[in-house]
Amino acid sequence: MTGPTVVIAGVGRFGDLHARVWAEAGARITGLVDPDTARLAEVARTRRVDQTATELAPLLDRVRPDVVVIAADEAAHTGLALTALEAGSHVFVEKPLALSAADAWRIAETAAAHQRQVVVGHISRFTAPMTRMRAGVERGAVGRLCALRLRRDFSRAWFLSFGDRVHPVWESCIHDIDLAISFARTRVRRVVAMQSGAAGDAAPSVVSALLEFDNGVIATVESAWLVPATAPGTLDDGPLALDGAIVGEAEVLGLDGVLKQRLVSDSLVEWTRAGVQVPDLSLWPEEDGVVGGALRREVGYALAVFTGRRQPDVMPVEEACWGVEAAEAVVESLRTGAPVELPVRR
Ligand SMILES: NC(=O)c1ccc[n+]([C@@H]2O[C@H](COP(=O)([O-])OP(=O)(O)OC[C@H]3O[C@@H](n4cnc5c(N)ncnc54)[C@H](O)[C@@H]3O)[C@@H](O)[C@H]2O)c1
Repeated sequence: MTGPTVVIAGVGRFGDLHARVWAEAGARITGLVDPDTARLAEVARTRRVDQTATELAPLLDRVRPDVVVIAADEAAHTGLALTALEAGSHVFVEKPLALSAADAWRIAETAAAHQRQVVVGHISRFTAPMTRMRAGVERGAVGRLCALRLRRDFSRAWFLSFGDRVHPVWESCIHDIDLAISFARTRVRRVVAMQSGAAGDAAPSVVSALLEFDNGVIATVESAWLVPATAPGTLDDGPLALDGAIVGEAEVLGLDGVLKQRLVSDSLVEWTRAGVQVPDLSLWPEEDGVVGGALRREVGYALAVFTGRRQPDVMPVEEACWGVEAAEAVVESLRTGAPVELPVRR
């Protein structure tokens, strides 16, 4: 096989799925990295990868991959991205790009200095409805863009198992901050946010944020990790080993029209012995034995960018940096209870 060579850093739930999808898209997985040696061995066996390591740098010395895919815990993204870029690899990094604006811009600048590309895994940009909505806004279908409303709720059980390992702004709101940027196509200049959650929780399970963009567009971004276990599952039995539900909506409001989307498709309803499900068919559905949907499109796009076959037009790294700036401001507004003006940067 002749496809680009790929090392996956972080082979938990999503890293394992990435290993599958990059291979299905024609890449060669030449190494895996994870400090959890039991997990590393398990994924190496099921994905048939020989080279493994508990740290990225020594593995890069050995295998020199074209691409490093980062699907590790959020706090590890910056260090892994800088290591990969400095070793000469292109980088695909799961959201969030970084946990501070300073780190995000450092990654972008390091990529430019080494003439490498960085694609951030903001998967929602790659769903078919979002692609169509963005094209509609760009050709003026809704006239002058005025406002965006984005909402994303997750299973309560996820919050208790992994949702609070970073602030939920970085875990869930970052998706919608990024979508808002993909429509407004400029920086956020001001945010104000409020939070709520069970007393004693380390992080808030409910966040509401209001963003104002440089061009006057406003966006509401809301996230609650409160979907009860009784709600129909949307991911159960899918290729990601995570049962539960993602529920949400996006609305784009312009002077001449409005576009609305449900975040996960509810076109299929299943009432079976397993209970009630509305399986998502947009993010990573299995189609004829391979993973399709937004994840496959995203990986195909990243491969085209990394091999010089297309410009990084769908997910420019600069826009991911704007998202990290806005998310950092939301976290600050939640901390202080006051509006935050973003510094004029570039
Ligand atoms: N785009 C999406 O829809 C989506 C969905 C799920 C997860 N994610 C993102 O994927 C990433 C991983 O999430 P997950 O749910 O798979 O988490 P996970 O906890 O299942 O896996 C994370 C793995 O990273 C490993 N790790 C930690 N530090 C590391 C390091 N320095 N080097 C290499 N590996 C390291 C951990 O040992 C673990 O195995 C996160 O950034 C998350 O936000 C995105």
